[in-house]
Amino acid sequence: MARITASVYTSHVPLIGVAMDLGKTEEPYWRPLFAGYELSRRWFAARPPDVVLLVYNDHANAFSLDVIPTFAIGTGAAFEPADEGWGARPVPRVIGHPALAAHIAHSVIQDDFDLTIVNRMDVDHGLTVPLSLMCGQPAAWPCPVIPFAVNVVHYPVPSGRRCFQLGRAIRRAVERYDQPLNVQIWGTGGMSHQLQGPRAGLINRDWDNRFLDRLIDEPAALAEVPHVEYVREAGSEGIELVMWLIARGAMADAAGGPKPRLAHRFYHVPASNTAVGHLILEEQLEDQPS
Ligand code: DHB
Ligand code: FE
Repeated sequence: MARITASVYTSHVPLIGVAMDLGKTEEPYWRPLFAGYELSRRWFAARPPDVVLLVYNDHANAFSLDVIPTFAIGTGAAFEPADEGWGARPVPRVIGHPALAAHIAHSVIQDDFDLTIVNRMDVDHGLTVPLSLMCGQPAAWPCPVIPFAVNVVHYPVPSGRRCFQLGRAIRRAVERYDQPLNVQIWGTGGMSHQLQGPRAGLINRDWDNRFLDRLIDEPAALAEVPHVEYVREAGSEGIELVMWLIARGAMADAAGGPKPRLAHRFYHVPASNTAVGHLILEEQLEDQPS
């Protein structure tokens, strides 16, 4: 059977990708941000998963107002970095895992969660920036990645509760897969930020850090937080944080198992317009290195 070994949570700010692509990571503005991911890169390299299921949102690059899937799973063999208006990022193409993705689609849909199946799409900064943060600048990404896109761009967006329950269904799906794969699930986006309107530039450190505390310790209760609180406290784009609840719902304790181990926690303000948050939670498995 396949199993989930860890979950990773991180913001996906596009300017972080630009800083890496243009070699600016040692500049004073960026140094503290990238320092917060040094441990993460060592951690990831020491525990290479067979597959990453990467929960992110598309920012009107693969999708548009023509079609707005609430939850979409990438079942294709490969996904190209999207051209977001200034050319595609110079990062490797993303190799998918069609067999596991199709299995997850089958299992999760039969488990009452409707997914849109996407065989062809480009992936934007929501997916490529987290890969860059965790893996650096390799010639090829170190493992296959299943893109899992969530609509948090156009209302109505899914509730935190639904995201958490979806994570639980994803865990069941992974555990029903008959190959012994080591699967990580990543939740990306956030933390507090608002890109438009009179409150543009909003950052709320207290709320963000309370979100991190609760995501670690009481995720089911956190999943009950309504949309209006995200928007009021964390800004209009802070709603991206509901995606973290999908990854968190896929951990063992959401199914009555042991609590995960906190391997890393990092918070930094600002990166571009955004408060950056980052967590790594490891499952307590007998054969997991600590
Ligand atoms: C910014 C952050 C995002 O999450 C995003 O999708 C676009 C821009 C920013 O901080 O500039
Ligand atoms: Fe975003």
